[in-house]
Amino acid sequence: MDNKRPDSMERINDTAKAMKFIDEQVESIKKTVGDGKVLLALSGGVDSSVVAALLIKAIGKQLVCVHVNHGLLRKGEPEQVINVFRRQLDANLVYVDATDRFLNKLANVSDPEKKRKIIGSEFIDVFAEEAKKQEGIKFLAQGTIYPDILESDGVKAHHNVGGLPEELDFELVEPVKFLYKDEVRVVGKALGLPDNMVYRQPFPGPGLGVRCTGAITRDRLEAVRESDAILREEFAAAGLEGKVWQYFTVVPPITSTGIKDGKRTEDWIVVIRAVNSVDATSATIEPIPYELLGKIVNRIITEVKGVSRVAYDLSPKPVATIEWE
Ligand code: XMP
Repeated sequence: MDNKRPDSMERINDTAKAMKFIDEQVESIKKTVGDGKVLLALSGGVDSSVVAALLIKAIGKQLVCVHVNHGLLRKGEPEQVINVFRRQLDANLVYVDATDRFLNKLANVSDPEKKRKIIGSEFIDVFAEEAKKQEGIKFLAQGTIYPDILESDGVKAHHNVGGLPEELDFELVEPVKFLYKDEVRVVGKALGLPDNMVYRQPFPGPGLGVRCTGAITRDRLEAVRESDAILREEFAAAGLEGKVWQYFTVVPPITSTGIKDGKRTEDWIVVIRAVNSVDATSATIEPIPYELLGKIVNRIITEVKGVSRVAYDLSPKPVATIEWE
C-alpha cells in the first residue's frame, strides 16, 4: 500500500535535488526513530552504504552497522568499509570476520544453489547473533530500492540476505525505497561517499563464491581474489572503470600444465569476463583492447600464485549467463 512511489516525487538527477532529499529523509528518520537504536547490515554495496550514510547524518551513533565478512569479498573491500564508515564517518560499526565459519560450511559443496543457500543462511545466522548482542534495537534499516519493490513484492530481493528470523522482526527503516539505482548514486555522491563505492559495478551477494566455481578451496579462492584485483586495477588505469558494466575473473576447478623454473606444473586457469549490459537480463562482450589484455594476462600469470594460464570468455548472454554458476 505505501509501496508505490508517489507520482509527485521528482527524479533526483542533480546535487541540489539530492540535498533536498537528504534533508527530508534526515528529518523523517529522526521523527520515526526518536532515541531508539537502528541496526543495519552494511555490505559495502551502494544501497546499504547510502542508507548507512543517511542514517549516520540523522542519528549518528544510534545506528549500529554490522559488516559481515564472509570471506568471499573482493580484495580491499572490508578495509574500505572500515575506513569509510569507522574512520571517516565515525560510525558505530561492528566488523565480523566470519571467513572460517563460511569456508568450513562450504567445504566440499559443489552445487551452485546449495552454495548460495549456505552463504545466505549463514549470513543471517551471523547477523542475528550480532543483533542479539546489541541492546535496545528497535529498528532494522535496509537498502531496499524501488526496483526491489517492483520485482519482489516489497521483500528486498536479497538473493543476498533472504528473510530475517522472527526475533529480528524490528520495525523497518527504508529511506531509499522509492529511488532508482541512478538516484541512489546521486544521493550517495551528495553524501560524500567515495566514487568507487557509489559507482561500483554490480557484485553478487555470494561474492567470489560463485566465481570460485564448484567446491571452494582457499588456494583457488585466493587466485580469484588476486586476479580480480589485478583486472580491476588495470581497468581503472585504462580509464574503463565505470564504463564497463561488469568485469571479473573466474577460476574453475580445472588445471592445465605450465612450465616454471624449468619444471612442469599443474596450475589453475583464470578466466576473464567483461560484459556490457543495461539491466543484466542480456549482456554483450566488452572488446578489451588487445594490448591491455596482454598486460593483464602477463600480470596474472606472474603475480598470482598457482596460475599459469589465462583465458578470455567471449560468450554473450544469452546463451551464457554473466556469472559462471
Ligand atoms: P547472471 O549470472 O544470472 O547474472 O547472468 C545477472 C546479474 O545478477 C548477478 N548475480 C547475482 N547477484 N546474488 C546476487 O546478489 C546471486 O546469487 C547472483 N547471481 C548472479 C550477476 O553478477 C549479474 O550482475
